[in-house]
Amino acid sequence: MYISRESSFSLSDLTRRNNHLVKKNFNFFTYSREAIYAILMTNKITSDDEIILPNYLCGTVIESILPFSERIKFYNVDESMMFDALEVESLITDKTKVIFFVDYFGVVAKINKHLMGLLKSKEIIVIRDAAHSFLSLVSSKINHTNDGDYLITSVYKNLPFQVGAIAIGKLEKQKDFINLFVFLKRFSIALLKKILCFARQGEYINKNIKQITISNDPYVSYQWGLNSVILYSFILNHINFNKVVQRRKLLITQYYKVLILKSDFKPLFLEEKITNNTVLQGFPIICKNKKIRDNLIDIYRKNYIDVYTWPAFHKINVDRKIWEVVLVLPIDRRVLNILSYV
Ligand SMILES: Cc1ncc(COP(=O)(O)O)c(C=O)c1O
Repeated sequence: MYISRESSFSLSDLTRRNNHLVKKNFNFFTYSREAIYAILMTNKITSDDEIILPNYLCGTVIESILPFSERIKFYNVDESMMFDALEVESLITDKTKVIFFVDYFGVVAKINKHLMGLLKSKEIIVIRDAAHSFLSLVSSKINHTNDGDYLITSVYKNLPFQVGAIAIGKLEKQKDFINLFVFLKRFSIALLKKILCFARQGEYINKNIKQITISNDPYVSYQWGLNSVILYSFILNHINFNKVVQRRKLLITQYYKVLILKSDFKPLFLEEKITNNTVLQGFPIICKNKKIRDNLIDIYRKNYIDVYTWPAFHKINVDRKIWEVVLVLPIDRRVLNILSYV
């Protein structure tokens, strides 16, 4: 059986009761990149404005910024996904208009009061990029922007829904939109992967995962076509999130127990960072070197498990050093069982 990176989900995770998750202040998009585009559009960002980003970042974020401005500055993120607030401060100028903070793999980024105060005083727009953190946000009742001006999150990175993102914050009036065609296309690809694994042809899946991806793609809009938002929000409102979150949390503690015994790789986040509301998107580990990481990829792929490297970079920003040693494991009992004997 194929295990996808979003982990398993079954019909028993649905409930007749409405969980009222979908709120009036949510804006729905096909992907988070659409939300970023809409935020920059609403705030009339122009080519003269500077934008500050972390340097360990998915290329799609950069693709959605470049149509507005090429003046992008990067701050460093270390192997624990931490940044230095003083370095961030040093990048701020009178032209800085937007800054992003990323909640890597579901762990909410901590911004100290001094830095947040400075950003506010300079009227810099703070975007909390919680693309990975949908379940952490659900667990903390998603009703605020975590101290920023905007919060974005990709539902589909935590649940096998293939598409769907939410933005919270002041946006120009626009229609909630989740592209039905993209949803069906991605769903068919996921189905095909399952069929290939069932037919024991798993070697065709994610063949190039051991190679770094560096793209130079232009921004693509997914805001056209048939809209599936009514169906989408109906399903979101009928998920038993308590069950999904508790199952994940239990598995996460077990990953930590198993990983204590390993010497070639360790959890990327110290267990202390996993607070009550943290629900990891996947379980990131740091390997001693690329060879060990690639070896693990081979073992998991042989077992039809979609472990993955992250991110796919944009050519203007590549951090090969961290990329080479990070591996993200889906949160699933079979993945855990294999972890205990490798
Ligand atoms: C931190 C981060 N933000 C935003 C995005 C874009 O998300 P989406 O695929 O929903 O456009 C990604 C993509 O992987 C990401 O990793």
